[in-house]
Amino acid sequence: MQTILVTGGAGFIGSNFIYYMLGTHDDVRIVNLDALTYAGNLENLRGVELDPRYTFVRGDVRDKAAVDAVFDAYGVDTVVHFAAESHVDRSITNPEIFLSTNILGTGVLLESAKRHWNLRPDDKYCREYRAGVRYLQVSTDEVYGALGKTGMFTEATPLSPNSPYSASKTSADLLVRAYGETYGLPVNITRCSNNYGPYQFPEKLIPLMIRNCLLGKPLPVYGDGMQVRDWLHVRDHCAAIDTVLRKGRVGDVYNVGGNNEKANIEIVRLVLAATGRDESLIRHVQDRPGHDRRYAIDNTKITTELGWAPAYTFERGMSETVQWYLDNTAWVERVVSGEYQNYYDTMYGNV
Ligand code: NAD
Ligand code: TYD
Repeated sequence: MQTILVTGGAGFIGSNFIYYMLGTHDDVRIVNLDALTYAGNLENLRGVELDPRYTFVRGDVRDKAAVDAVFDAYGVDTVVHFAAESHVDRSITNPEIFLSTNILGTGVLLESAKRHWNLRPDDKYCREYRAGVRYLQVSTDEVYGALGKTGMFTEATPLSPNSPYSASKTSADLLVRAYGETYGLPVNITRCSNNYGPYQFPEKLIPLMIRNCLLGKPLPVYGDGMQVRDWLHVRDHCAAIDTVLRKGRVGDVYNVGGNNEKANIEIVRLVLAATGRDESLIRHVQDRPGHDRRYAIDNTKITTELGWAPAYTFERGMSETVQWYLDNTAWVERVVSGEYQNYYDTMYGNV
């Protein structure tokens, strides 16, 4: 039985990953360590709460004692590290928490994994680890910076982050690399493009636009709306992580993307059409500072070396996603309360 420590499992991708893994494999146990920040919602995990293979532990990845206690109590042999502050706009207004959670939190997890898995943890030259252990860092294509009209990010593209969020994720990636190089810790990094799907916090583009359409509220499009993102259904991302865990070469980075580039304004128009609204709701608002113009992932390595490929077409993925938000308006409204509501007001004022 593989015991996977999933950090940030109450968030968007983490919760989808837990469903994916428990639904796909019989022989896994999941320990979900999550601090339940504004973005963590245990309601996302109702469907697995009673599964004996699933355990939730409330805790902060920056808390060394809490992380060590999880390793000790559950015999963790795999880490999939999702927990992070994940929203670029928040990183522009409050960068500190991004440095703390995304960089220091990663450092704590790496150190704990090294000490628990190394066969002689007090010997600084020992590079031998328990059989089968693996640390996987869930990273983002944003570490590569922005592209012009052409080109794609490969795993060899220099790291060139532009926002405090992407700079913190890049720093974390470099720590992971350092633990691989210096200590021989068996690590992987996955760098995925923008995800969409169920349980995404409605501060991100797609769920925010769906909700506003349903409420007849204006749709805030940053600048000209011609920024391009490479969208991937969250389940395809989860399958890619599972593939890297099973087949990835130790120490390697894998880019994950769906070859599915769309300008933001196209996404907004698609959501308008799917919800029966018209373009009069669109509002072009002041652009995000340092806004990356285009991301595009070259996924040749993971597709050719590991045999992963996205299963969703964008049409099917988007239609299911819009339907999920239509069917789960109560979830959305419960999420959009408290701190998020204050945040929404400071971001968009009375737009
Ligand atoms: P999210 O914001 O929805 O969820 C983050 C989760 O981490 C929440 O459950 C939150 O409570 C938890 N968390 C935050 N700080 C914590 C701490 N200090 N200790 C423990 N738990 C903490 O994020 P997401 O969109 O699911 O992204 C998950 C990961 O995937 C992140 O590392 C992100 O950088 C990466 N990623 C996201 C995307 C995307 O499109 N969303 C794309 C590529 C990579
Ligand atoms: P987002 O979902 O925040 O993801 P990221 O910044 O990590 O790519 O935003 C996706 C794109 O949508 C990005 O170019 C910013 C843009 N955007 C808007 O135009 N309006 C909005 O209200 C939001 C949240 C995003």
